[in-house]
Amino acid sequence: MDKIILTGDRPTGKLHIGHYVGSLRRRVELQNSGEYKKTYIMIADAQALTDNIENPEKVRENIIEVALDYLSCGLDPAKATLFIQSQIPELCELTFYYMDLVTVARLQRNPTVKSEIQMRNFEASIPVGFFTYPISQASDITAFKATTVPVGEDQLPMIEQTREIVHKFNTVYAPVLVEPAALIPENEACQRLPGTDGKAKMSKSLGNCIYLSDSADEVHTKIMSMYTDPLHLQVSDPGHLEGNTVFTYLDAFCRPEHFERYLPEYPSLDELKAHYQRGGLGDVKVKKFLEKIMQETLEPIRARRKELEKDIPAVYEILKKGSETARETAAQTLSEVKSAMRINYFEDQELIQRQSEKYNSGN
Ligand code: TRP
Repeated sequence: MDKIILTGDRPTGKLHIGHYVGSLRRRVELQNSGEYKKTYIMIADAQALTDNIENPEKVRENIIEVALDYLSCGLDPAKATLFIQSQIPELCELTFYYMDLVTVARLQRNPTVKSEIQMRNFEASIPVGFFTYPISQASDITAFKATTVPVGEDQLPMIEQTREIVHKFNTVYAPVLVEPAALIPENEACQRLPGTDGKAKMSKSLGNCIYLSDSADEVHTKIMSMYTDPLHLQVSDPGHLEGNTVFTYLDAFCRPEHFERYLPEYPSLDELKAHYQRGGLGDVKVKKFLEKIMQETLEPIRARRKELEKDIPAVYEILKKGSETARETAAQTLSEVKSAMRINYFEDQELIQRQSEKYNSGN
């Protein structure tokens, strides 16, 4: 079976380094690996609207931000189809049919939906569209017969729900759909990169994000003020690693060659950690090392973004072309789905013939 990638992001803000280590970096590698027949990357504007009914402008403005972030990280329109969810009406149609295959109780048990409902204080006033977005996400994935969905760990319940829908559809109707597998980072630090303040999640409202589009100065300031170990007051004090954001970021970003380049007196991250725990290693030294790595990682992304920003219409054109291509694939799947569901009347000559004979057999 052909291996196909689909994944995407809600356009509610610029993308940050949590998105980068959680999924973006991996997508670029997969795109370039040559192992996948197709790579689809979707800007999930319709899903973003499910909890942003009052903010259509926010969603609209952030489409270009996300597209610029994608392209500057190395997603390549020659190798990957970049498209906008709302421009593929077939996705809505699929969602409507999949709704018959899912119970309200099952949606209520979806852990991601559960925690998001809590986070947004929706309680009793959950918009139906928001409540059912896992079904719409199943449409996004299955419309492209995706086998592989590179996402952050918080999206696992969505993929699980999709697999259930696929299984049900294929059992009830015909084996048309493909069960996808999630691909999450093996590195724990990458799965859920904390904010610069040490809080569990990077979020725009907490002001604790490092954005891919931040300037070198902004990155410098943010790293120097990062949360470390509140008990590590003097350089000679033993330091703690748990919850120490600077070390978590090193876990996510540091590679062996960074030591050769920027901190040759240490052979490895393990040695650096051991020294910190023993005492005698200051936060500033570790932060400076982290900054070198971050700047090295982000600089090419920033530079590419600057170039892309010079021709914004070209970026919209990439999304438009991508949306046209994506739509063709989704339409093909929808047609197979409708045949399987026995609602393809006008394409079914045998049906028309049979009905005709039923009424005219006496002639
Ligand atoms: N739910 C994803 C997020 O919040 C975005 C998304 C929508 C998605 N449809 C998808 C991700 C399909 C993977 C596959 O970031």
